[in-house]
Amino acid sequence: MFDKNNLIYKSVKVKAPASVANMVCGFDVLGMALSAPYDEMELTITANPGIVIKHVDAYNLPTVATQNVAGVSLLTMINALGVDVGFEVVINKIIKPGSGLGSSAASAAGVVVAANYLLNNYFDKQALVGFAMHGEQLASGVMHADNITPCIYGGITLIRATHPLDIVTLPSPALYVTIIHPQIEIKTADARQILRKEVQLQAAIKQWGNVGGLVAGLFKNDYGLISRSLQDVIVEPVRSMLIPAFDLIKQASINAGALGGGISGSGPSIFMLSITHDVAQLVEKQMCAIYDKLGIAYHSHVTTINNDGVKIIME
Ligand code: HSE
Repeated sequence: MFDKNNLIYKSVKVKAPASVANMVCGFDVLGMALSAPYDEMELTITANPGIVIKHVDAYNLPTVATQNVAGVSLLTMINALGVDVGFEVVINKIIKPGSGLGSSAASAAGVVVAANYLLNNYFDKQALVGFAMHGEQLASGVMHADNITPCIYGGITLIRATHPLDIVTLPSPALYVTIIHPQIEIKTADARQILRKEVQLQAAIKQWGNVGGLVAGLFKNDYGLISRSLQDVIVEPVRSMLIPAFDLIKQASINAGALGGGISGSGPSIFMLSITHDVAQLVEKQMCAIYDKLGIAYHSHVTTINNDGVKIIME
């Protein structure tokens, strides 16, 4: 039974990481957390029930709890707790909404991990994923967990099933991740709307071969197998039309030595995996050269897989 009079910490500050959902072939089931960028959140448990949300960023996101991704996730958690506790939440959003880098997941996962810390870690990680999925539903209309789960568990994760949740943590090799984010916004809801609702058997066979291959490649640390498995014959052919010069960027990255990659989540960011930092930087250079030539504004960076997930940085 939860005891509200026995809490150790009143306030906590966390870093909630960006994430890459799908990992090319695993639509809605695979995802990995990134070392950068990350949002910063500060939570304080308050004497009065209710959720007060403040944003200290420029995105003008809703602050009414029922309309805010973090607010909805926290409300779901408080309901499950069955005890009326209140929180003040201060969010510094750094992961741009609509970037394909799991901005909403960072809010949802960050807030439940932080609140759970203040509640003496009353809930386990899987329960936290369940709460945060309500935030994703508000953001995109779908309770997908492929960004939230790596955000909470760290590393690379597989959602074998959503109802009930069956989460598998996968090994994450020491790979480098190059990200390029053309400065357009794609709403996940829109990027889902354009997908075909049915899949041809031949395409499904290729896709599950690749998902199995990628998972096996991660366990075996087999970069060749990982590289061959980073193919998506179902979602990428449709969604890539929304992303400027997607095919050029992808081909140039592979030519520069990347193992492979594709659309990050629902886009427009593109990610590539490389074995060395030098190759990851070369990939970034080639990607940037293409957008420079086309006059397309972008942000780019090289990062790594984040094995910690949401991190407590201050009590
Ligand atoms: N799996 C989701 C999608 C991730 O691709 O729609 C959204 O970030």
